[in-house]
Amino acid sequence: MTTATTGTRTTTKGFTGTSHTRVEGRDKVTGAARYAGEIPFAGLAHGWLVLSTVARGRIRSIDTAPALARPGVLAVLHHQNAPRVETDYVGMLGVPDPTCAVFQHDRVPHLGWPVALVVAETSEQAREAAETLVVHYEQEPHDIDFSGARPDAHPVDGYMPAVVEKGDLDAELAASRTVVDEEYTTPEEHHAMMEPHAATARWDGGRLELVDSNQGTTWVVGELAKMFSLDPASVRVRSEHVGGGFGSKGVRAHQVAAVMAATVLQRPVRVVMTRRQMFSLTGYRSPTAQRVRLGADADGRLRALEHRSVNLTSTVHEFVESAAGPARVMYDADAHHTANRVVRLNVPTPTFMRAPGEAPGSFALESALDELAEKCGLDPIELRLRNEPERGPVSGLPFSGRNLPDCFREGARRFGWADRDPRPGVRREGRWLLGTGTAAASFHAGAGPSTAVATAEPDGTFTVRIAAADIGTGARTALTLIAADALEVSPDRIEVRIGDSDFGPAMIAGGSMGTRSWGWAVMTAATELRERLALGADVPPEGITVRSDTTAALGALAQKERHSFGAQFAEVAVDVTTGEVRVRRMLGIFAAGRIVNPLTARSQLVGGMTWGISMALHEEAVRDRATGGLYGADLAGYHVATHADVPFVEADWVDDPDPDDPVGIKGIGEIGVVGAAAAIANAVWHATGVRHRNLPIRPDRVLQSLPGEPHA
Ligand code: MOS
Repeated sequence: MTTATTGTRTTTKGFTGTSHTRVEGRDKVTGAARYAGEIPFAGLAHGWLVLSTVARGRIRSIDTAPALARPGVLAVLHHQNAPRVETDYVGMLGVPDPTCAVFQHDRVPHLGWPVALVVAETSEQAREAAETLVVHYEQEPHDIDFSGARPDAHPVDGYMPAVVEKGDLDAELAASRTVVDEEYTTPEEHHAMMEPHAATARWDGGRLELVDSNQGTTWVVGELAKMFSLDPASVRVRSEHVGGGFGSKGVRAHQVAAVMAATVLQRPVRVVMTRRQMFSLTGYRSPTAQRVRLGADADGRLRALEHRSVNLTSTVHEFVESAAGPARVMYDADAHHTANRVVRLNVPTPTFMRAPGEAPGSFALESALDELAEKCGLDPIELRLRNEPERGPVSGLPFSGRNLPDCFREGARRFGWADRDPRPGVRREGRWLLGTGTAAASFHAGAGPSTAVATAEPDGTFTVRIAAADIGTGARTALTLIAADALEVSPDRIEVRIGDSDFGPAMIAGGSMGTRSWGWAVMTAATELRERLALGADVPPEGITVRSDTTAALGALAQKERHSFGAQFAEVAVDVTTGEVRVRRMLGIFAAGRIVNPLTARSQLVGGMTWGISMALHEEAVRDRATGGLYGADLAGYHVATHADVPFVEADWVDDPDPDDPVGIKGIGEIGVVGAAAAIANAVWHATGVRHRNLPIRPDRVLQSLPGEPHA
């Protein structure tokens, strides 16, 4: 039933594909692969963004003369001289965040708001001149105080209804044998991908060309075309290699500023963000304050489930971190209330970050389930199995597949769950308290309309073109394998070209939907091409080309609850003298559709689980009330898990066919992080007997919670 996860152990019969190293791996490790910030252009000028130093107010004046007098300086763009752009439109992902529409007015809604772009012959000259730019502000008092108790928290729909209520919550809670009522918080978290945002804009023969690092060239073309009132056909965006995205690489201030400068100067302009600028300009995961109330019968069946989440957003755009969303998929109850609310503050707009909603939401919900299991005297896996819903708890729709029990059974067997003593605080090795925990995971499985082009070349090779984005996921390799399968040829006869909007519209690398969306289009085009070749067609010098478009096929899909599922397991050791928590091992078993390339799929899942370690124990961006900015806005001050924090992490999967998808894919980019922090927090409880409901579980929090310990 289960399949192998590494390149050395391959069980390729049927369901799981064959492991294949990244087709661009050699280019990447030898430096042949060029990233957006390092591609040479003749006559390139360099822009440096200048960010506000106040958290709220107006720009009174900008003294540009000293900057313009510096060597090499070509222009200073700001709200009084920059080209006007359109902001009143609906883009591919909805109403845009006006933060990207730089230099349109004098208002400053948060610290680190872009106020000017200094353009010079070299990056160093631009930076030096930017530092001489004096911006005078009329400063106003700012408000960055986030809490779940804010009276101005208001429901916002986002990608799902803000509030969904079924049944009488108070009555069911009153009738419940066991009740859990707790609050959980997660901090502000940042994507911290390795490659900073970088874009080069130029006008070429009447077309705007952007060389960029993004999660979808179709998406960026659409937004730029609307902002600059251009025909989308006259905009080309390329993004060949991307050093991580995690939700942050859409349209951002730097691309728009680069287009403005290239337009004004009529020469290529590159804008690269610094790591510190990224902390205020590229989005982040909002902190959340969540309240979960569960009420259960004597047998653990849920009568009442309430999950309310509050997140913050900026004053210019409403972003919802839909943390109450997972409850609508995971568990049913007679009374089922969920709500996502938002507070507007003088902070940058948050955005999608790997498993938006599910990552923080699963921490609260899956911690609460563990607390309920403890109170009911039930094994936490048994509690979940008793609450497996037949249909979507809120939607009433059938599941396209829900192999969560398989994940728990397989995971429990391999993790050794049966040997676990359910009592907390009983395993000890010297100064270390040991514990294990588990949690469930789910993530939406979807697809977006995409087009692909497959060409049979006269030399017997094949070229596939699709405006896909490989943000480090291995998508390019997966698409090569899918095309090889469909064409029934070896992968080395196929070249997959991606990251170019001229290949036709395609889905973004987002929402775990990229490879499924593109795989569908590639499979369709390649299959038709094989059929044509099978009829004995001669390949002419220009090749034979077949195009596909999945719009109609996706539109014809029946409405179902479509999700990946997973079971997370963690073992931790807690040092009672220092409060340090070390994860000793993790196991995640996932039901996530067909796994195309076990090698890169495992990397995605282990990467997500590693994010879970980081979320549980390390990541926390802290704002300074006085300035409204972050303390330590860099990778020294913002700690993400590093090698020494990450022990043996194993990911594997059970067969989970999706009969409605021609390739059988569900998507694996995000589910690895879902439930991972809860499994670790539940393990910390099992080790210590103390619940940690506020992330991250820092040493000081652990120490303060262990009053009985002699060294604490
Ligand atoms: Mo993802 S947060 O959909 O890039």
